Amino acid sequence: MNTISIEQFIQGIPKVELHLHIEGTFEPELMFEIAKRNNKKIAYTSVDELKKAYSFNNLQEFLDIYYAGANVLIQEQDFYDLTWAYLNKVHEQNVVHVEIFFDPQTHTDRDISFDTVIKGIHRALEDGKKQLGISFKLIMSFLRHLDETSAFNTLQQALPYKDWISAVGLDSSELGNPPSKFERVFAKAREEGFLTVAHAGEEGPSEYIWEALDLLKVTRIDHGNRCLDDTKLVEKLVNLQMPLTVCPLSNLELKVVTDLKDHPIPEMMEKNILVTVNSDDPAYFGGYMNENYLEISKALHLSKQQITQLVINSFKASWLSDQDKEKRIAQVEAYFQKN
Ligand code: HPA
Ligand code: ZN
Repeated sequence: MNTISIEQFIQGIPKVELHLHIEGTFEPELMFEIAKRNNKKIAYTSVDELKKAYSFNNLQEFLDIYYAGANVLIQEQDFYDLTWAYLNKVHEQNVVHVEIFFDPQTHTDRDISFDTVIKGIHRALEDGKKQLGISFKLIMSFLRHLDETSAFNTLQQALPYKDWISAVGLDSSELGNPPSKFERVFAKAREEGFLTVAHAGEEGPSEYIWEALDLLKVTRIDHGNRCLDDTKLVEKLVNLQMPLTVCPLSNLELKVVTDLKDHPIPEMMEKNILVTVNSDDPAYFGGYMNENYLEISKALHLSKQQITQLVINSFKASWLSDQDKEKRIAQVEAYFQKN
């Protein structure tokens, strides 16, 4: 025990990512490359200038830049390259399983076809499985600032790709767009066999988490930070062992927390909530999985045992088969014992 540093420990432990927007992995270098080949303009003259714009006071300020960045994605190959770059990046970080979001409406609203988007992403995920050994699930997220009709249309377009899409989710501007707005779309999605998840309680109140549970029948809550405002809700999340996919560096960059030293992860763990660590939009928030684990470990003085528990939580919260979960958890426990 205690033979390797926390950095090395985090690097080597097999990890899972459960909250990742593929459009949020768009690194400036790749953005400029793809913009050039598609003859699309970027509002910034250089990678450095673009990176300087990555300073946000809230979720909306980030979303404005995030949607602008996605504008240069046109061809199936662009979506492939975006996803392939992400998979290679996390492969270096020893991520072995990913469950990632894509936002079809960000693209279909610009007249890029649903097929172009999903075919590029899916082909990269298949290649990642074959060549990098990363297993995957794909989650189609509805943009909650758009209306119910747009979400229904998007669901319709997803039906031919049921085999490729495990779940539907809900993201974008949370305040003023409660889960209840999409109750009927989510009911239809469940009827069609999709699992459901939703961003709730990132900027929005704990009531939105209740709605996600009661109305959208989610199997995970994305973020969920605000659950701590409501003891009854915490009790419910614990009883259900409902996973929260928490994103520390995202929380810091979007001012959901003012300092990582005040991040609620330890309190959530203490209360027995099934909390997990994720990167959300790593190209914009300054870190992928390892950086998220490392920064909270430093700020909150997490032990190797606590880090191991967070990783095990992620495997438990994933949609891997029970057999694969058991195998992976045993592997993680053996790693902890050895290191
Ligand atoms: N919250 C809401 N919508 C998003 C996010 C997020 O953290 N990232 C990308 N879209
Ligand atoms: Zn998110």
